[in-house]
Amino acid sequence: MAELKNLDTFQRRINDFLTAKLNTLSVNDEKLLEAMRYGLLIGGKRMRPYLAYITGEALGADINDIDAIAGALECIHAYSLLHDDLPAMDDDDLRRGQPTCHKAFDEATAILAGDSLQTLAFDILANHKFSETVLPRQITLFKQLVSASGYQGMCGGQALDLAATNHQISLVQLEHLHSLKTGALLEASVLMAAQCSSHVTEADNIALKEFAQLIGLAYQVQDDIIDITSSEEELGKPAGSDLAANKSTYPALLGLQGAQEKAQQLYQQALQALHTLPYNSESLVEFATFIIKRSH
Ligand code: IPE
Ligand code: IPE
Ligand code: MG
Ligand code: MG
Ligand code: MG
Repeated sequence: MAELKNLDTFQRRINDFLTAKLNTLSVNDEKLLEAMRYGLLIGGKRMRPYLAYITGEALGADINDIDAIAGALECIHAYSLLHDDLPAMDDDDLRRGQPTCHKAFDEATAILAGDSLQTLAFDILANHKFSETVLPRQITLFKQLVSASGYQGMCGGQALDLAATNHQISLVQLEHLHSLKTGALLEASVLMAAQCSSHVTEADNIALKEFAQLIGLAYQVQDDIIDITSSEEELGKPAGSDLAANKSTYPALLGLQGAQEKAQQLYQQALQALHTLPYNSESLVEFATFIIKRSH
């Protein structure tokens, strides 16, 4: 599988940041805090933080500012997974190689841990010591995270996903669903990191947005592919669960080969989008390559 430069370093950095943040919380209910820790800190590739870090690095942002972006995004992502696995949604038993949160604890605790991780994301954005140049943009960062995670973003996409279960939908509808449920947070990883750079022009932002939307969509297309082609052991989550649940996916609509071609096409378009950027975008190219090659 494609290698990602400095992956270990950025994973360690975000894990330390999130651990430190959780350690600042005073204990109200021990079980809830344990479930938050479980959902947030046990496993996970940390792809959204990684993408935020490499974007920030490419655009000359201060890494201390990116910590908050990366941390907030991973909290939203972790919460989305806790809720995604619940019996009311995908009803899965395994996540990141461990029993899902509602199996390890109970449903009510998994719901509350998800809720608490969601608000923790905004706590991070609100209380982080941003550098002087980023401080005036704090509200913009809030708006970006709100729109990527709520009705306009991930939650809206999850609702469309549930509505499309056991139903045939069009490719246009599927693209919209994927772009929201998964694309939105990956897009925010790039665009929120770009907000932390003083050099980014309007034209750069347009190119970055295009790139981020394409790889965000590709991320879910590949997730649908590896649900079929990888083993439970590799994935750390159940294999074949989309098929079993009769989910609307790219392989379901286009066949496995059609889905692979779609991922390839998105990849090529994403690389095109980077061409106008006056920055070294090598790491972004590498990330896009990783997405469509990954097996877990
Ligand atoms: C899984 O995301 C769910 C999707 C949005 C496709 P990841 O594949 O990034 O999961 P972790 O964080 O590494 O567990
Ligand atoms: C999940 O999509 C997207 C989220 C917002 C969590 P999936 O349901 O395909 O994710 P996995 O396969 O369970 O990780
Ligand atoms: Mg799901
Ligand atoms: Mg799922
Ligand atoms: Mg999936």
